[in-house]
Amino acid sequence: MSRCVVTGAAGFIGSHLCDALLEKGHEVLGIDAFIPYYPRDIKERNLMSARRSPRFSFLEADLRTADLAKAFEGCDAVFHEAAMAGLMRSWSDFELYADCNLNGTRRVLEAARDTRVRHVIHVSTSSVYGKVATGTEESAPRPVSPYGVTKLAAEHLCRAFEDTFGVPVTILRYFSVYGPRQRPDMAYHILIRALLHGEAFVMYGDGRQTRSNTFVADCVRATLAAFEQPRVSVGETFNVGGGEVVSLNEVIELLQTLTGKRLHIERRPSRPGDQAHTAANIDKVTRVLGYRPTTGIADGLRAQIAWHRESAVSRGGPAQGASSSLPGPS
Ligand SMILES: NC(=O)c1ccc[n+]([C@@H]2O[C@H](COP(=O)([O-])OP(=O)(O)OC[C@H]3O[C@@H](n4cnc5c(N)ncnc54)[C@H](O)[C@@H]3O)[C@@H](O)[C@H]2O)c1
Repeated sequence: MSRCVVTGAAGFIGSHLCDALLEKGHEVLGIDAFIPYYPRDIKERNLMSARRSPRFSFLEADLRTADLAKAFEGCDAVFHEAAMAGLMRSWSDFELYADCNLNGTRRVLEAARDTRVRHVIHVSTSSVYGKVATGTEESAPRPVSPYGVTKLAAEHLCRAFEDTFGVPVTILRYFSVYGPRQRPDMAYHILIRALLHGEAFVMYGDGRQTRSNTFVADCVRATLAAFEQPRVSVGETFNVGGGEVVSLNEVIELLQTLTGKRLHIERRPSRPGDQAHTAANIDKVTRVLGYRPTTGIADGLRAQIAWHRESAVSRGGPAQGASSSLPGPS
């Protein structure tokens, strides 16, 4: 059994990671500040299953100010999931993104160094690549949004701490993650909500933009594979993707079939920073860590639709959240 810290534990992916670590018998301290990018009650619900475990504890704290060394004392691994995610808002809220994503990461790395944490798994994004994210980890990063810039800077800071102080870091670049608990600003969440509740869907661009979406359970399995194989993962950067590439138009077709409903689409031009194509090259993570995605897009969307239906029932109405679409990674 290991003692793990998960930052961003109340978020979409962080909460699934906590559940998976607990299921494997580890002890988990979750940290989250409930940054109001989307409503707190959604994040509280994300945490419900983890909170049922006696091996889970939770610290409501902001990485930018908290005493992280105290929190990290005696822990074996830190999974740094916390960030201001979501690409569009980074154009208007740069300071918050820079502060959480870069300064927050600095404080995580300093505390990991000072408490001699054995492994930091730092979560990054395909957005570091820029407009087209289809190459290997060696492709030159050229982010096209402030979000991507802050995440790339955080990656560099990780390597600076590794090279200078020996902090052992693995970097994982997730590609468009979806599934139950997906953030309310993300495209599939908005699409499914629109279909289930008869709302209009605002489509930016022509719908031919493609994504290699990653089902959240696959994303978590890749993260665990990095954690469980530090000898080969420390010092490395891995793309984490879902294998299957689909266009937004194809996803809409599929969702209409799965829900039995027609979508009302409002068309708009694409927005600054929108990525055209992402297709995760996962050769390295497959070769080195033995990771292979197992959930195809139809099964993954089916699981997300089921979650939307259950959570709408449990809260007595449609999901709360952002009102515009974001057919992109984050
Ligand atoms: N969702 C995706 O498709 C996707 C794709 C690529 C990369 N990522 C990365 O995965 C990670 C998780 O993303 P997510 O989609 O689960 O987002 P999320 O917003 O659901 O979760 C992030 C959590 O971090 C917390 N947080 C942010 N700043 C904090 C701070 N200063 N102190 C404490 N807590 C803080 C937020 O309150 C939130 O609960 C992020 O690092 C994101 O950049 C996500």
